[in-house]
Amino acid sequence: MKLTGVMTGFVAAACVIGFTAGSALAQDGKAIYMKDCAKCHGESGAGDGPSAKSLKDKPGNWGTGGLKDYDDAKIAEITKKGGKAVGKSAGMPASSKLSDAELQSVVAYVKTLKK
Ligand code: HEC
Repeated sequence: MKLTGVMTGFVAAACVIGFTAGSALAQDGKAIYMKDCAKCHGESGAGDGPSAKSLKDKPGNWGTGGLKDYDDAKIAEITKKGGKAVGKSAGMPASSKLSDAELQSVVAYVKTLKK
């Protein structure tokens, strides 16, 4: 039926647009992550960034389940408020200067490192 074809095309296009927006978000987040987070969390989220050596409390290894108890809201909260505000180590600094959009994109990128 003609209408079904149109609908299918529409849904497919919406999926492509949605997917592109999602990965663009993670791309922006990657730039923020590499600048603000990788020095402690490591480029792959393994917790092995150059500054991690001098931290008393070490960040978890996200590739081996270190983020399994964290959903989007929790990742966003600890990123924005820092470890101390959520009852974790003060070694995790607050990124209160990030805009909501930046916060959302860095969370999207962090999730790509999560296993
Ligand atoms: C100065 C080092 C440092 C920087 C920079 C840093 N973190 Fe952390 N982060 C930590 C430490 C240490 C912990 C562990 C806190 C704990 O377990 O009590 C942590 C914990 C976390 C956690 C909770 C999961 C875990 O590994 O324990 C998330 C999510 C997180 N950081 C995200 C970020 C993001 C996103 C950025 C960049 C915007 C960032 N961090 C920058 C040191 C850092």
